[in-house]
Amino acid sequence: MKDSVYRAPKGTRDLVWPDSERRRSFINLFAEIAGSSGYAEIVLPMFEHREVFQRLGDGTDVVRKEMYDFEDKGGRNIALRPEQTASIVRSYVENRPSLPWKVWYAGPNFRYERAQKGRFRQFDQVGLEALGPEDPHLDIEVIAIAWRFYEALGLRKVNLQLNSIGTSQDRVRYIEALSRYLENQKEFLSKESQDTFAVNPLRVLDSKRDEDVQVISEAPSILDHLSDGAQSHFNEVQEGLEKLAIPYIVKPTLVRGLDYYVKTTFEFTSESIDAAQDAIGGGGRYDGLAAEMGAPETPGVGFALGLDRTLMACDAEKSFPEPEHMLEIFVVDTTGGANALVITDELRQEGFKVDRSFDDRSMKAQMKAADKSGAKIAVIVGDDEVSNGVVTIRDLRGKGGQEEIASESMIADLRKKLR
Ligand code: HAM
Repeated sequence: MKDSVYRAPKGTRDLVWPDSERRRSFINLFAEIAGSSGYAEIVLPMFEHREVFQRLGDGTDVVRKEMYDFEDKGGRNIALRPEQTASIVRSYVENRPSLPWKVWYAGPNFRYERAQKGRFRQFDQVGLEALGPEDPHLDIEVIAIAWRFYEALGLRKVNLQLNSIGTSQDRVRYIEALSRYLENQKEFLSKESQDTFAVNPLRVLDSKRDEDVQVISEAPSILDHLSDGAQSHFNEVQEGLEKLAIPYIVKPTLVRGLDYYVKTTFEFTSESIDAAQDAIGGGGRYDGLAAEMGAPETPGVGFALGLDRTLMACDAEKSFPEPEHMLEIFVVDTTGGANALVITDELRQEGFKVDRSFDDRSMKAQMKAADKSGAKIAVIVGDDEVSNGVVTIRDLRGKGGQEEIASESMIADLRKKLR
């Protein structure tokens, strides 16, 4: 069906207050946690040369089906970013910052997916990436930051699924073994998984379809194909998580939807939201990506958390509530508006959060607007107040009492009441 042109395109939506402010608080909290762990913010372009994202893997859905790509007026092949890790590595390759390079980011990404609850075509992520060290301690740091962030949001029903998909050589050996196995079991697989098998055998492991579950449960495990180096890296990551008392489940079928990963991969799922969209974050190592883009071999590890889905989990767990109304004072002026103009400006300069009505509306209409605004106090000015050098202050919450105060002491009195 064709979208009506004056509606937000399918898979997108407008975020209005209080959702817009909750989003900002979410990002601010993430900025605080990432910043205090030595990560600096990076703001990336929303589009890149398509080749940057081609690195996510020709066999992945993101590249094959979901890319918003187009030729620009200069004949370049451009794609809106479906994620930000590849852009960060591109930025690293281009700017060669000194290592370790630790950055965090927030912002929208674009994937032409089947839009549904918790799955959007424009969705926000917060995330971070650390380039340089190969040290498993860095994997642990990254996972721990995500975990502490979920805790700070008040989420308690988050599961950490952990896996290692080995080095790229390990993966080649594993895919051979897996393909041999799946080839023999092909007739038992769903039609969709048979198609996936032809393009990207690893992704078959991701299927949750009933027909596939049995076949997958008996498939060879990547964990039996790890080289010694990858195995000891994985062991250290697990030991570190145990030291930090971060619970995890090893899930050998966790392959993730992007091809750049090696060694550690992980995903966070929420028990409190719909199982089909329960992944609220994910990440892993991508030690080969910088070299693929032409830089010397530079290990990297990071994660991205889906803001929209994580907030759905917060709703389900009744955590990280919507913000309170932000206004403190509403100025009501029945003299035509000139007094409101001056008082509003004065109060704002003093740091109060203030709004007013326009269009010289009736006292009743202005009081209604004041109530609706969420402000705590109305400052009312009429002809009597002006001639007596006072303003009337009305409590908009609680008992709703009112009193007159001298205009001269208005700031001090309001400060006493509100602070
Ligand atoms: P990803 O698993 O594709 O990984 O996305 C991370 C999170 O973004 C998902 O767990 C989910 O919460 C959210 N997300 C993804 N697609 C959608 C969508 N269509 N609608 C709503 N939320 C969505 C990455 O993007 C990697 N860059 C993560 C990473 C960072 N790996 C290493 N560093």
